[in-house]
Amino acid sequence: MMQEKTFGNLVNGEWRISRENPPLEVLSPVDGSLVGKLSSMSHTELDEAISAAKAAQKAWAAYPVYRKAQLMYRAADLLEQMAEEISECLVMEIAKDKNSAVSEVKRSADLLRYTADVGKSLHGEAIFGDSFPGGSRDKMSCVTRVPVGTVLAISPFNYPVNLAISKIGPALMGGNTVLLKPATQGAVSALMMVKAMQDAGLPAGVLNTATGLGSVIGDYIVTHKDIQFINFTGSTEVGQHISALTSMTPVIMELGGKDAAIVLEDADLDFAADNIVDGAFSYSGQRCTAVKRILALDTIADELVEKLKARVERLKTGDPREPGVTVTPLVSTKSADFVEGLMRGAIQQGARLVTGGQRTGNLIQPTLLDRVTTEMDVAWVEPFGPVLPIIRVASAGEAVEIANRSEYGLQSSVFTNNLNKAYSIAAQLEVGTVQINNKPERGPDNFPFLGVKSSGMGTQGVRYSIESMTRPKAVTINLTGDE
Ligand code: NAP
Ligand code: G3P
Repeated sequence: MMQEKTFGNLVNGEWRISRENPPLEVLSPVDGSLVGKLSSMSHTELDEAISAAKAAQKAWAAYPVYRKAQLMYRAADLLEQMAEEISECLVMEIAKDKNSAVSEVKRSADLLRYTADVGKSLHGEAIFGDSFPGGSRDKMSCVTRVPVGTVLAISPFNYPVNLAISKIGPALMGGNTVLLKPATQGAVSALMMVKAMQDAGLPAGVLNTATGLGSVIGDYIVTHKDIQFINFTGSTEVGQHISALTSMTPVIMELGGKDAAIVLEDADLDFAADNIVDGAFSYSGQRCTAVKRILALDTIADELVEKLKARVERLKTGDPREPGVTVTPLVSTKSADFVEGLMRGAIQQGARLVTGGQRTGNLIQPTLLDRVTTEMDVAWVEPFGPVLPIIRVASAGEAVEIANRSEYGLQSSVFTNNLNKAYSIAAQLEVGTVQINNKPERGPDNFPFLGVKSSGMGTQGVRYSIESMTRPKAVTINLTGDE
């Protein structure tokens, strides 16, 4: 598929290239080469894709669950067979290092298999009236789960395969049809994944795609009358924009983050430093769950900084096609400018540059800033790049207060050898997930994944996603008591 430089959209089982608008060029952040040309779909073409999803939905809902599962298993196998091809595309399209790219594809195949497993065991329940005062045994509610209809899945640039499939798989297993709007930078990789899904034998119209700039087609598709659910992953800014437009459409939103790593005085500092550096700088910090600030107890901060510095300086940076490279060029010049501005601003305000700080094109060296204060933007803003601020605190209580003062609430890490203390701190942190003695991370994909405050709404994770994109349907049987 990579040899095709012009990519159409899957609409009603056919790959269609838009003739109405000039194509969008996707250029590589690695070397500026052409990754592919995308259709910029017109409203008429978007209507056709959504109509195809609507027309296919009832038959798909009635499609036997075991056969839906078989299709997911087959799609997973096809995806795995394409792992080399798709990972090569990820490397060039979003500058993801090869190991992470291969891992994303294989993880997505595993997610589809697990989705099929869970989808087959998605049952309802029967409730009798006499379990409620005054109720009768002759009244029985049969509760099943039914699909919501057509799901609009909108995915971000940093995981074009996994964060599309984590929506598509559960939506389809729940009996919904899907329109996928991939991030423009990442869309070619996403369309390759869709090809594997389609080649597995999905009936026409069950899965459709829509490419085009989100700023151009976004409002149209999120407000479309035939979209019954929006599953969005992206920035808080865009998520809030969509939420303001779609008051009555149920949504799941996975948004920005500013995950804090709290390091207490009894932590194993080598272990903590290993985890924090991996969590902060893998894929150049372009992960929602990246460690985006350290809250370190004063008593151990100097020693921790030295351990972090040594590890950061061992990171390999540069071209994602080179083996072992962790920190690669950021996805755009706009991103690199933003990250550099945050870094420079903090240094001007008195932060100590421990290591890094250099920029070549869109490649920013992994940067460690010590003695960051809460007066600095880098303490609060999501950089989505390889810059890590260290804020020194006098107590665990101060760490919790600063962590909770963030507008974000995705994940936090707590490093300590005292499990009672860790659990007590975890109970106070206003986030979706607390990692005790581990970097923040979404995986494994069967775990619940959610953000609170400006980090999102609703819960993902395979079973949670299927439940979110289906709803209970109750049929109450009233027996007359006549034999
Ligand atoms: P983004 O700029 O918000 O874009 C996300 C998606 O929304 C893209 O497909 C984009 O399309 C589309 N979009 C843009 N404007 C839209 C509109 N008005 N209506 C509908 N869709 C619209 O985010 P990104 O740069 O791709 O990803 C980075 C951000 O996502 C970071 O903030 C990161 O924290 C967050 N993120 C969160 C999670 C999580 O699980 N919580 C996971 C990954 C990323 P275009 O590409 O065409 O603009
Ligand atoms: O930012 C994308 C989010 O899904 C991160 O996943 O497993 O790398 O924490 P993970």
